[in-house]
Order: sequence, then structure tokens, then C-alpha cells
Amino acid sequence: MKKCVIPGTFDPIHEGHFAIIKRASKLFDEVIVAVAKSSEKKPKHSLEEREKLAADKCSSLDNVTVKTFDNLLVDFVRSEGAQCVVKGLRSVKDFEYESNMAALNSQLSKDFETIFMIADPELKEISSTQIRELESMGVDTSSLTRNSDC
Ligand code: PNS
Repeated sequence: MKKCVIPGTFDPIHEGHFAIIKRASKLFDEVIVAVAKSSEKKPKHSLEEREKLAADKCSSLDNVTVKTFDNLLVDFVRSEGAQCVVKGLRSVKDFEYESNMAALNSQLSKDFETIFMIADPELKEISSTQIRELESMGVDTSSLTRNSDC
């Protein structure tokens, strides 16, 4: 059984994340969306909130489960018995950051591969940072965070 982990801070989860999760759910038997505690990033939404938002968003996808973790990603992936980590790439900036993380994780563990998916062009501009900024200014962000598919 092919299983992947899609890790992130998901503060909050948005359409761009969901598109990657949905695409991965067609390639893998099981997808685990792993919401990191990421205390060092001082997330705006609590871990429980981020987990619930992600679970609500992915509820229409039968082979997707949402979990939280507060340890090294390589240890979480090993404990789940997954063969892959999937990350979405929107830009060269994402590539620089994510390829660095993938290389570091590969030094820490050879148990899994990191696979990158290029973001859909129409979703490339969405980011959790912008959503948080809009939320703080009282703007309704539901069109960016909610999906009619769910
Ligand atoms: O959505 P993000 O914030 O870009 O996700 C980053 C995340 C959570 C995937 C990354 O920070 C992570 O894997 N954190 C878990 C701790 C870890 O394994 N760090 C890698 C070595 S510094």
C-alpha cells in the first residue's frame, strides 16, 4: 500500500494546499495531512484549530487523514510507515526552501522520498501568510480557504 505524508503548518489550510492534497489522493492509497505544531513560527491559529480546519476541508476525500505532529518529520513519517513526503511548489523561492528541507531530511533518513508537485497556475498566488493578513484586516477569506468540492 502506497502511503504519503503531506506536512505543513497549515496556518490556515487553503485552496492551494487542498489542490495538492486532492492530486496526491489520486496517486496514493493513503494520504496523511500532517499538521506541524511549528511553535517557532508562532502560528496564528492553535494546533487544534488548524487540525480541525484541515479535517473539515479534506472530509470529502476518503483516503485522506489529518494528524498532528510535534517531532521531527523523518520520525513522524517513519512512525506512519509512509514511503513519500509530498510538497507543493509555487515558485523558485518555494523550490529553494523545499529542496533544502528535502536534502536535510534525506540526510536524516533514507526511508522515504520527497516528491514535489507544481502548483496549479491559478492557485500559485494563494498563501497562508496573505490569508492571515487579510483575516487580521477583517476581510472575508472564505473563497480562498473553503472549497465547493468539500
Ligand atoms: O508549511 P510549512 O511551515 O512550510 O511546513 C514546514 C514543515 C512543518 C514541513 C517543517 O517545518 C517540518 O518538517 N517541521 C517538523 C520538524 C522537522 O522535521 N524539521 C526539519 C529539520 S529543521
